[in-house]
Amino acid sequence: MKSEILKLLRETDGYVSGQQISEKFGVSRTAVWKVIRQLQEDGYQVEAVRNKGYHIVGSPDVMTREELESQMKTRWAGKNIMYYAVADSTNLRVRQLGDEGAPHGTLAVADRQTDGRGRRGRSWESPEGSSIYMSILLRPEIAPDKAPMLTLVMACSVAEALRMCVESFGDAQVQIKWPNDIIINGKKLAGILTEMSAQVDYINHVTVGVGINVNMEEFPEELRQTATSLRLECGHTVKRATIIARIMERFEENYDKFLHTEDMTELMESYTSMLVNRDREVRILGAKEQYQAHALGINRTGELIVRRADGTEEAVYAGEVSVRGVYGYV
Ligand code: BTN
Repeated sequence: MKSEILKLLRETDGYVSGQQISEKFGVSRTAVWKVIRQLQEDGYQVEAVRNKGYHIVGSPDVMTREELESQMKTRWAGKNIMYYAVADSTNLRVRQLGDEGAPHGTLAVADRQTDGRGRRGRSWESPEGSSIYMSILLRPEIAPDKAPMLTLVMACSVAEALRMCVESFGDAQVQIKWPNDIIINGKKLAGILTEMSAQVDYINHVTVGVGINVNMEEFPEELRQTATSLRLECGHTVKRATIIARIMERFEENYDKFLHTEDMTELMESYTSMLVNRDREVRILGAKEQYQAHALGINRTGELIVRRADGTEEAVYAGEVSVRGVYGYV
């Protein structure tokens, strides 16, 4: 009931009376008052005025189930929420939830991770209180070789949502570094790690994990040149639950577009418009060779199309190569 009352307070302009709340949820006015007290103890600023009722004027930067539920406007993405103050890794939590039969769209969110994982076996710095660590469980009925595209679907959704949530980044804008790093001003803001439990021809479930640097004010020395946060880029703090809710909305819509064609056809325009590598010189780092090429954009299956110095064009696959800018990370 806490989430529902929170949602009602949020969606009401001005005051909502204790009587209205108790009638809507079929509970006593004392029960309503107790929930309001709990919300105040949790850090919500709820004004209580005699003969008028309750009015919410401020909320804490928390990602609890109640806070997320009160902001979620989706049908299935992030409807079943697991919140952990501390988790080893939300990807690991979701994998386990998937094995135990949790529904499609289940979302695990943590305030801190003790075993945060990045791509290519790297670790992901996961201090408490300032970042988003979340993973969504998907049960797509597609061939396993199509699952890597879900990473691009999420990249598109995260970039779109961040552009919606933060009104201004000055002259800079959130972009995607192919295939799935979210960047701004040449530095990494967010990363995505997709993992799959599958048989040769059948997907059990897919976990798409997202880590976003939101309100961090500084980074460890070794990351300072390549990592940044929303706070550092836009100059003010941003509520993490709002970002999560917007990402879930964008993801739900984009996932449906992806399933429609089982590829990036309907998302190519949005993805390409945010692609930082488009029309840039890049270094392709493969296991067998490294070369410089001109990046043109992505194809329908999410590969990066590049033109080599001799004019030949080819599609490079994210699982096989990584891409760097000629002068640095981007
Ligand atoms: C990358 O290397 O760019 C991917 C980083 C992905 C980090 C997120 S944080 C939430 C989820 N849980 C993890 O352990 N990793 C992902």
